[in-house]
Amino acid sequence: MNKNILLIYFSWKGATKRVALDIKKILEKKYRLEVYEIKPKVERNYFDWLIRSFIPNSRVQINPLPFNLTHYDLIYLGLPKWTFSCPPINEYLSLISGVEGKKFKVFITYGGFDEDRYLKAFLKKLKGKKIKVVATLKVKRSEIGKEEYLRSINEFCSESFN
Ligand SMILES: Cc1cc2nc3c(=O)[nH]c(=O)nc-3n(C[C@H](O)[C@H](O)[C@H](O)COP(=O)(O)O)c2cc1C
Repeated sequence: MNKNILLIYFSWKGATKRVALDIKKILEKKYRLEVYEIKPKVERNYFDWLIRSFIPNSRVQINPLPFNLTHYDLIYLGLPKWTFSCPPINEYLSLISGVEGKKFKVFITYGGFDEDRYLKAFLKKLKGKKIKVVATLKVKRSEIGKEEYLRSINEFCSESFN
């Protein structure tokens, strides 16, 4: 199918990256796919990230990526659940353009608590940018690779262009 798909994610410790790469494996069989990892310009320690994740909408500089999303038909966006928000993702969202009415699928990984509130707040943020979220997926870190996980990512990757 002649669709342009972008798969973009931030992962500090690798869990979200693992999910992103599993999604990649499914999508690349069918679509023209571009995959990018959001990388902060400066590495930080856990305590530093934790403090920043408590500050609403805090941002950190990230390396250059495609920021104009006009020519993509669907965007998969992945991020970890970090207390209130994830600064590299906040920065990415502040820099992207061409997203009005654009379809996104959002996946998060989390350790084990408060993921529903986080996802809800994140979806509200995307709605504020007039992004249309057509699917969401929450993955508990300890579930990655298990049977139910594989089923859920396959379902998450099923088509939704209309
Ligand atoms: C700064 C920080 C804050 C976190 N806050 C939460 C949290 O509030 N709830 C939760 O379930 N997991 C929390 N986690 C755990 C991550 O969501 C989880 O380990 C995730 O899978 C990490 O993804 P990554 O390996 O791609 O970085 C936090 C991790 C970090 C580093």
